[in-house]
Amino acid sequence: MRRTLWTNPDRPIADLDELRTRARAVLAQNDKGTMVTAAPNLYPHQWSWDAAFVATGLSTVGVPRALAELDHLLAAQWDSGMIPHIVFADEVQFRGAGYFPGVDRWRTEGASPAGVKSSGICQPPVHATLVRRIVERATSRGGEDGRLAEEFARRTLPQWIRWHEWMRRARASDGSGLVTIYHGWESGMDNSPRFDGPYSRVHPGDLEPFVRTDTRIVEDASQRPSDEEYARYLWLVQQMADVRFDDARLPGAVDFQVKDVFMSAAFAAANEDLAVLAEGFGHSDEVTRLREWSAEFREGVDATVDPATGLARDRDLLTGEWISLPTIAGFAPLLSTADPALRAAQLVLIEGPDWAGDPRLAFPLSPSTSTTSPLLRPREYWRGPVWPVVTWYIAEAVRRHGDGGRYARWREASIAQLMEGHFGEYYEPFTGEPLGSHHQSWTAAVALEWLDSS
Ligand code: SER
Repeated sequence: MRRTLWTNPDRPIADLDELRTRARAVLAQNDKGTMVTAAPNLYPHQWSWDAAFVATGLSTVGVPRALAELDHLLAAQWDSGMIPHIVFADEVQFRGAGYFPGVDRWRTEGASPAGVKSSGICQPPVHATLVRRIVERATSRGGEDGRLAEEFARRTLPQWIRWHEWMRRARASDGSGLVTIYHGWESGMDNSPRFDGPYSRVHPGDLEPFVRTDTRIVEDASQRPSDEEYARYLWLVQQMADVRFDDARLPGAVDFQVKDVFMSAAFAAANEDLAVLAEGFGHSDEVTRLREWSAEFREGVDATVDPATGLARDRDLLTGEWISLPTIAGFAPLLSTADPALRAAQLVLIEGPDWAGDPRLAFPLSPSTSTTSPLLRPREYWRGPVWPVVTWYIAEAVRRHGDGGRYARWREASIAQLMEGHFGEYYEPFTGEPLGSHHQSWTAAVALEWLDSS
């Protein structure tokens, strides 16, 4: 039996036109001119993968602003090719916003480009996929939008290629077709149970004292990672900062090293998308290389699938162990696989009773941890809630592989979830309550994407 659905005590959204208007308003309010902050209070800076999703949402409203968002991110690209996971806003502009850990804690000065304040780690390389989407949207409209998007893609292609080169060289030179991460923040899924094993072996040593700000904003601390988790997060930052984020020294310095299957699948897909863009500009050498990488990571991801569960797995590099847990990352092959049997099996699974097909759910949408797993914590960040951005990202991959029917079903369910009107960062799966930050930019962006497609 279903639980009682959460209802917005203020004013839920009446219809799709209002959803569009309010989603646009969220992006407009979070737009500080230089960047659209990831969320008004909790995340008052630019995050790498957020920016890519935000840009595609923005492109439904205006292509130039969407491209400017990506240009702002690219201006923070390191000499190595890495795109940092946070580009910090000017503190004066954001006085009082207070995000921790700020740039001082990262100690990236000298490593990041002059004049740029950034973190020293990366996030999932979804950008090329979303650039392709923006270019396709703009060119189908034609006119000035199409010209601008093509000009942008042509101009920035070398930078996206350098980003992918860096990822392949610094994080996957072993030829495994799997990307190494040195911090759960790199995965974007910070405290997913998939990282519990690796984090249990991170023992903070002489850690600089710290005071969190996130739990002042999200007052129900149980929706955020614990203090113990934060100590580990900060310890890893300290370990990386101590070697100046030098890619060659990270393997010898950091107590967390995981082959991230979801990130690897995002990378496989993004290489194909970048190849398509490069092809359009006649860069045939690059196209060959990008398609090789795409195949390498596609195969790397496929090879992780656990025959017992049908889900893809991460691997703890420091112990050599597979991490076979029922989290949304297990559906990584839906982003990348070329194997029809694997794709079909994963689609059955994701709509089955342990995931989106659990009849107790408020909406038939996959949570971040299986509803039937003892690991599920339905209110806690990446340990259970439904993340609209993940719903859309997987749905979009499924649509690209020709399954418009399934895209339409997930679209309907996701829109129904968003109609409560807060544009939550994530949602309680059984009640539909918006959790974490409200007015989250990428959730608004996803609403605009759903509305711009069918
Ligand atoms: N997601 C992290 C945070 O919550 C940072 O990337 O602050």
